Amino acid sequence: MWNHTRITELFGIKYPVLQGPMGGGFSTPELLAAVSNAGGLGSLGAYTLIPEQILETNKIIKTKTDKPYNINLWISDVDESLTDYPVESLQKVKALFKPYYDELGIPLPDLDIKIPSKFLKQVEVLFEIRPKVFSFIFGIPSKEILDECHRLGIKTVGAATTLDEALALEEANVDAIVAAGFEAGGHRPSFLKPANESLTGTFSLIQQLKAKIKTPIIAAGGIADGKGIAAALTLGADAVQLGTAFLVTDESNATPLHKAKLFSEETKYTVLSKSLTGRMGRMIRNRISEEIKFETPVLPFPLQTRLIGPLREAAMAQGKTDMINFWSGQNAVNLKYTKTDELMTALILETDQILNR
Ligand SMILES: Cc1cc2nc3c(=O)[nH]c(=O)nc-3n(C[C@H](O)[C@H](O)[C@H](O)COP(=O)(O)O)c2cc1C
Repeated sequence: MWNHTRITELFGIKYPVLQGPMGGGFSTPELLAAVSNAGGLGSLGAYTLIPEQILETNKIIKTKTDKPYNINLWISDVDESLTDYPVESLQKVKALFKPYYDELGIPLPDLDIKIPSKFLKQVEVLFEIRPKVFSFIFGIPSKEILDECHRLGIKTVGAATTLDEALALEEANVDAIVAAGFEAGGHRPSFLKPANESLTGTFSLIQQLKAKIKTPIIAAGGIADGKGIAAALTLGADAVQLGTAFLVTDESNATPLHKAKLFSEETKYTVLSKSLTGRMGRMIRNRISEEIKFETPVLPFPLQTRLIGPLREAAMAQGKTDMINFWSGQNAVNLKYTKTDELMTALILETDQILNR
């Protein structure tokens, strides 16, 4: 049976279908529960949440499902270059964005460069909650954290954008590895080399990992239906992780406009840009991603998100949606479903028809 894999065994789930965590509030308890209740693995992207919010959200999750689920954090949630970031550089980047602010008729924000990392405090509540799965991106947690997860029975999942990153994760003894292909929506979670030097597609990455590592593999990026799931499993993945396909469902917290964009012709043109957040991520192309090229310095993550925040809000209020970042993977063209349970049923049925015939 296609649906019995090392991952279903490891996580105690029925189908090797994972809802990708989507930080910044996109993945909700409703979405997570709908996926876990359908036999997959629902996830909460929690990297922007303070510990109290994680505990609170977890309480809500518990009222909606008693099945296994995943909580996801970012190992690196603040760029190192933010320490002692020069005021002159800050002024330069602000000047770069001033024309957009002027066009919207709003003042540039005052920015405080002191942004502490939340990660270690978030991990403390993770140990309290003990989700079945803890997935993470942008690095590898310390040995102490991984050991504690193993002691508490929390399965650990790291993300690799290259074979070298997968080898490093295997060396650290994580339980599973996400092969994060460049098709994927959202940030590119590279940690050994810069993201723009770590651009491997999902199909190649699955096969590279399959050849060189023993750790179970979760394929992510560009998978939106049963055909994609069957292909990834055939190439050696033990499970798949879908993000964009869940972003358009009623249960996700994406705005109605964002969902409409994902069903529009505009999704034909996604780009990898760092100009909206300071870290490279895949989104529908927009004026800022087009006009501020990759070579142009912007603020480190997450300071750039604080520069873009007021601009985004004003652009939204004034209907200037070409200045807004709408996250999207490369395969939104194939999206059909807006209800999570219908999407899950279709994914399982279609994979079943292909792999069990
Ligand atoms: C809006 C958005 C936010 C995301 N945030 C996270 C995150 O916080 N942590 C993470 O591990 N992956 C994150 N991802 C990646 C997804 O979990 C998933 O791996 C990816 O979307 C799969 O590719 P696809 O979009 O082509 O399906 C995000 C993706 C999107 C679209």
